[in-house]
Amino acid sequence: MKTVSKISELRAQVKTWRQQGLTIAFVPTMGNLHAGHISLVAEAHKHADKIVASIFVNPMQFGINEDIDSYPRTMHDDQQKLTAAGTDLLFTPTPDIIYPKGITKQSFVEVPNVSEGYCGESRPGHFRGVATVVCKLFNLVQPDVACFGLKDYQQVQVIQTMVEDLSMPITIIPVATSREESGLALSSRNGYLSIEEKAIAPALQKNLQWLAEQITAGFAQQESIDFIGLAKQAAKAINHAGLHTDYLHICHAQTLQPASEDDTQLVILAAAHCGKARLIDNIQINLN
Ligand code: PAJ
Repeated sequence: MKTVSKISELRAQVKTWRQQGLTIAFVPTMGNLHAGHISLVAEAHKHADKIVASIFVNPMQFGINEDIDSYPRTMHDDQQKLTAAGTDLLFTPTPDIIYPKGITKQSFVEVPNVSEGYCGESRPGHFRGVATVVCKLFNLVQPDVACFGLKDYQQVQVIQTMVEDLSMPITIIPVATSREESGLALSSRNGYLSIEEKAIAPALQKNLQWLAEQITAGFAQQESIDFIGLAKQAAKAINHAGLHTDYLHICHAQTLQPASEDDTQLVILAAAHCGKARLIDNIQINLN
């Protein structure tokens, strides 16, 4: 695997592949790679001839009190994992390369509606930062397809909407969440958890599963479902386990609007604090 940090080197390699008629799949990341990231590379192989990954801890998507300085950086390990997974090219730009004017003095991409609420509300400006950097990376790599993990469900909807709204010729491939045996979603931020916290963190997914079962059972019995009341019960159980629920909502799977009686494609989105870590997770429900 070749690693480049200059835009000119990236463009030269992409141009060569294009001239050879090869297709390109792209996996953007912020590094500190785990099996979830590697599953995106494995999926990418199914869709294109060449795989480009990027590692860039994007300052535009971090709030002022967030963990950008302490965000784990493990470049050497990451390169080994990407090489083993068959990545062809790794792009590792610095903030100066991506934002030569600084993050406040340049154009940005704002995706309305799906960026609002949930993580968009808890982390103001976060999805503007994500959409802007992904748009820039798409323009640099010019992939045919790009893989994103469903662990960050709202992020996938933001990117999908951006691609549709701005007519970007890229297919977005959503990839299922990789989990530990306990059900805890793999995340670079799990490294912040102590042994005790790691033991209680799976309560997030467990309660989402409980909630999904209640909704599915209620629907099967044609009962009217009290989405708000059930969501409150699940949040209470998560807090009782020792986490602190940031939000927990039952939503329409695509628009992310609060679920209504007629919706059959749902997603439960949740975030909870566990010690220093903020965990996010979700579960999709298909009532058809
Ligand atoms: P990062 O958190 O590094 O995640 C990179 C990609 O890996 C994202 O698409 C994310 O959803 C996916 N991912 C993370 N944990 C996963 C898991 N347990 N199972 C499956 N996929 C998982 O998300 C970002 O970086 C950034 O916002 C980025 C898109 C790179 C823009 O800066």
